[in-house]
Amino acid sequence: MATATKTFKNFIGGEWVDAASGETFETTSPANGDVLGVFPRSDVEDVDRAVEAAKAAYEDWRLVPAPHRGEILFRFGRLLADHKDELAELMAREMGKVLPEAAGDVQEAIDMSFYMGGEGRRLFGHTTPSELRDKFNMSVRQPIGVIGVITPWNFPIAIPSWKIAPALVCGNTIVFKPATDTPLLGERFVELLVEAGVPAGVINIVHGGGGAVGDRLVRHPDVPVITLTGSRETGIEVMRNAAENLKHIHLELGGKNAIIVLDDADLDLAVEGIVWSAFGTSGQRCTAASRVIVQQGVYDELQGRLVGAAEQLRLGPGWEQGVDVGPVINKRALEKIHSYTEIGKDEGAKLLTGGEVAGGDGLGDGNFYRPTIFGDVDPEMRVAQEEIFGPTTALIPVRDVDEAVRVSNGIEYGLSSSIFTRDVNTAFRAMRDLEAGITYINAGTIGAEVHLPFGGTKNTGNGHREAGQAALDVFTEWKSIYVDYSGKLQKAQIDTAE
Ligand code: UN1
Repeated sequence: MATATKTFKNFIGGEWVDAASGETFETTSPANGDVLGVFPRSDVEDVDRAVEAAKAAYEDWRLVPAPHRGEILFRFGRLLADHKDELAELMAREMGKVLPEAAGDVQEAIDMSFYMGGEGRRLFGHTTPSELRDKFNMSVRQPIGVIGVITPWNFPIAIPSWKIAPALVCGNTIVFKPATDTPLLGERFVELLVEAGVPAGVINIVHGGGGAVGDRLVRHPDVPVITLTGSRETGIEVMRNAAENLKHIHLELGGKNAIIVLDDADLDLAVEGIVWSAFGTSGQRCTAASRVIVQQGVYDELQGRLVGAAEQLRLGPGWEQGVDVGPVINKRALEKIHSYTEIGKDEGAKLLTGGEVAGGDGLGDGNFYRPTIFGDVDPEMRVAQEEIFGPTTALIPVRDVDEAVRVSNGIEYGLSSSIFTRDVNTAFRAMRDLEAGITYINAGTIGAEVHLPFGGTKNTGNGHREAGQAALDVFTEWKSIYVDYSGKLQKAQIDTAE
C-alpha cells in the first residue's frame, strides 16, 4: 500500500519551515513499523533562529495581561477536547499506548490547560507589612524569557502541556523540542496552540535529536530556563552543559517505584493496582511499579494471583479494541528490556512469567514484550535497583512494615511510592517515611492529578516540581518591591518605626 508519506516542518516565528540543512527523519509506528511522517532533522542554525524569534516575541508577550494569556489556554483546552479521539488514535499509532490510556494522556493536557488558564487570574504574589511607617511591601512573580522545553515520548501530549501551559500563562515564550519518537504528536500540539491564538514567535517547535537540537538549547545563552523530562544520564549532562550560563534547570528523571503490600491488605485491590501500575503503558511510565514489596504472610497468594492476572493481559496494537498492553517504543527499548530479563535470571531471581519478545498472532513485526514478573528478588539485585522502563516487575519478600519501608527507600530514585494496608496508623507512618515525591495509599504508583505537584526526591530530579502551584516556581522569578511613601529616606534595620 504505497501511500505518500506526509512531510512536516518546524514552526519558527509564526512560519512553517524546513530544517536549514534540508535533512529529514521518519517517525514510525512501534506496533507495525508503518512510516507515519517525515520531519526536519534540525541543527544549531534552526535552534538559533527559533530562539531569536522567541526572544523577540517575549518583549510583547510578557506585557499581555495574564488573564488574556489564560484565555488562550482555555481555547487550547477546548480544542484538545474537540480533537481528543483523533489525538488518542494518533498516539496509539505513533507512541503505542492503548486507546483508553491515550485518551487519558490527552485528558491530562486538557486538565492542565484549564488549570493553568485559571492561573491567569491568580498568579498570586504576597503583600506583607513593612517594618517602617508609610512603606508598602509586596512580592510578585515575573516571567523569565525563552524556555527550552525538551519532552519524552511516553506522554507525548500530557508532558508538553505540563511544561508549556504554565510557561505560557506566566508570560514566557517557548522553543519546544519533542522526542524524535513522537514528533507527529508534538506537531499536532503546536498546531492546536496556534489555532487557539498563541501569537507568532511565542511558540516555536524544532524537530531533531538531543545531540543537535537539545544540546544547542541547553547551551544557548538566550535560553535562561531548560525543562526536561528524561533519563538520569541526560539530566546530568544537561545540568553540566547548562552550568556555564547558570541556567535554571528543571529536571524530571527516572523512578524505581515500589508498591508495598502488607498482610492486612485488600488483596483484590492490590492485584488490580499492581497490574495497572506495572503493565499499563507497557511499564513505560516514570511512575510505573517496577518493584512489589510483599509481606511474607500474603506473598505466595499474591504471587499466584499476579502471575494469573499478567497472563490474562492481551497484547496488540494500541488502537485495537480489547488490547491491554501495547508495544514498547522501539527496537532499542525492546533489547534493553530483554537484557534485564537475562540479568535477572543471572542474578538468581525467579522468572515467574513473561521474559520474552512476543510475536505471531497479529503482532507481526511490532515491538511487543510479554508482561514479566520476577519472584524471590533480593532488593540489591539490578532488576530491583535500575530503571528498566518496560513491562517488568520484581517481587521482593519482606518480614514486616519496617523492612518494607527500608527496601522501598533503598534505591537512588524517589518518584512514586504506594502501600496497601487497612491500618490507618501504618498508612500515616508510610506517608511520613517513604522517601518519594508521591505516596499513594491503597492505590498503585500511577495516576497523578495535574493540580498537585509532580516530581521526586533523590536522583529523580533536582528539587523542583512540575504541575500544581509548584510549576509556577519553575517558570517565574520572584521580585520583591518596596514602595516608600513617607517622603523621606527611611533606612531598613536602622530607623525603627513605632
Ligand atoms: C511520567 O511517566 O513521566 O501519574 C508521567 C502518572 C501519569 C503521569 C506519568 N499521570 O503516571
